[in-house]
Amino acid sequence: MSVSQHSRTPAGEFWEARPVAVTGAAGFLGSHLCEVLVGCGAQVAALDNLSQGSPANLAGVEPEIEWVEWDVAGDDPAPAALREAEVIFHLAAVAHPGTCRDHPECARRVNVEGTRRVLEACPAASRVVFLSGAITYGEPLALPLDELHPQRARDPYSLTKIMGECLCWLLGTTRGLRMTVVRNFSSYGPRQVGDYVVPGLIRQGLQEGRVTVRNGRPTRDFTYVEDTVEGLLAAAACEGLVGEVVNLGSGAETSIGTLAQVIAGLLGGLPIEDRGEPVMGSLRQCCQNRKLCRATGWRPRVSLREGLAGTIAWFERELPTLASAAAKELSQNARQEPGGGR
Ligand SMILES: NC(=O)c1ccc[n+]([C@@H]2O[C@H](COP(=O)([O-])OP(=O)(O)OC[C@H]3O[C@@H](n4cnc5c(N)ncnc54)[C@H](O)[C@@H]3O)[C@@H](O)[C@H]2O)c1
Repeated sequence: MSVSQHSRTPAGEFWEARPVAVTGAAGFLGSHLCEVLVGCGAQVAALDNLSQGSPANLAGVEPEIEWVEWDVAGDDPAPAALREAEVIFHLAAVAHPGTCRDHPECARRVNVEGTRRVLEACPAASRVVFLSGAITYGEPLALPLDELHPQRARDPYSLTKIMGECLCWLLGTTRGLRMTVVRNFSSYGPRQVGDYVVPGLIRQGLQEGRVTVRNGRPTRDFTYVEDTVEGLLAAAACEGLVGEVVNLGSGAETSIGTLAQVIAGLLGGLPIEDRGEPVMGSLRQCCQNRKLCRATGWRPRVSLREGLAGTIAWFERELPTLASAAAKELSQNARQEPGGGR
């Protein structure tokens, strides 16, 4: 259910009975996207190799989707569900920058080779949405970041995303794919469980009764997952965005310190510590979202406070399950390579 209580009808008719494939479907964004697509009447094929995502994320729509376990970077041929889809959302990726730094070859294989394999499997004239990220802009030359800002980042995750974007244009041109590249900013919400700032601070608050940030000064553009998903659907249904790059973010710049204050406040006024450690990544990020808003009428609707309250409520419910899953994963991890099959 929507935390915002706003009615959401993301281009409903467009999706009715339309075959849609989502790669990375068992992950954070992918699972929310599948849920909304099912709600819009689309025929959803959910593809994932479960290296990071979990089948539990799709439990709510399991009877209504076609589940396909497939490694985008593996040897198995592309499944029919991908080849037959009219719209493809390509989200499967090694999505954590730190993991890409530690395993650059795996990041290249999944984020670049995997993207090539997905694009090559898509039929000509299908609509393909590729998820890239604001991180590819690197340290901003000017704010807010618009789509014309140069891509200056040099870390392995950003580089693989930039290479993925290049493949979209190359294969889009040579194979007639109708591509849209979405540069997503910092989405957050239920089911985001990795080492990211929002889930990290919420878990810490719930488990330790305090909120500690490495450095409160950097800013990010936080977008609640409902708004992100609505933006993705709007972009995919918009003819004017074929062959275009478009930013997806709230347009609000929030410091990590402010984020910590809101979380600590929602958790009953917990103490906050700012360690003042060196800043990792860009000092500032803020999305210029005018292009998406003008092309589609999309607007972010969920305030930071509202979105964080919804996320905290989810963590309060799920924390015991997450803790036991994490313990199980620890014992498996030594044998696993991130992004590889499970
Ligand atoms: N969450 C954000 O704020 C954000 C920001 C910018 C871009 N993105 C992009 O959006 C997409 C989804 O991100 P997310 O936050 O949901 O991450 P996530 O890690 O929750 O989801 C990624 C999914 O891809 C799957 N996957 C990984 N390797 C695979 C492989 N070889 N074959 C098939 N599936 C594989 C994982 O199992 C996982 O379910 C990613 O491409 C990410 O780079 C996310």
